[in-house]
Amino acid sequence: MAILPIIELPDPRLRLVSEPVGAVDAAVRKLMDDMLDTMYEAPGIGLAAIQVAVAKRVLVMDVAREDEPKQPLCLANPEIVWSSEDKNVYQEGCLSIPEYYEDVERPKQVRVRYLDRDNKVQELEADGLLATCVQHEIDHLNGVLFIDYLSRLKRERVVKKFAKAARQRED
Ligand code: NI
Repeated sequence: MAILPIIELPDPRLRLVSEPVGAVDAAVRKLMDDMLDTMYEAPGIGLAAIQVAVAKRVLVMDVAREDEPKQPLCLANPEIVWSSEDKNVYQEGCLSIPEYYEDVERPKQVRVRYLDRDNKVQELEADGLLATCVQHEIDHLNGVLFIDYLSRLKRERVVKKFAKAARQRED
């Protein structure tokens, strides 16, 4: 178990398309466990492997409220096999774009097929916050960020802000 550094906008690795894992083996399980530690520490409700600079199709989530028991989910090679016509709007944020939040509309429900921590094929029926979260995380595996759903003006403004902050850190 380890806390991994999270990469942030404008790191170009956030735009990579991640590679599927061959199988969920001990190395992938360790990655999942480290990602869960990193996500809980942040704290956040979802984390994709590319956010810790690993370009593999692996993500972790836990949308349980603070007063509920933990409900960690580990997904490898997730695929959306169905999405609802109904849409939902949530205010989204991202550990790679800290302290920035905007409303994003996405399908309200999705069904996701994936490999679990034991390398078994599973299907997740997700609704509400979990549906939004899993879609946001799967986007990361394709190099897509939630700011891509905003107007060009808003997106350019946030990218500029983070690019400037990164330059200032280097100075
Ligand atoms: Ni994110």
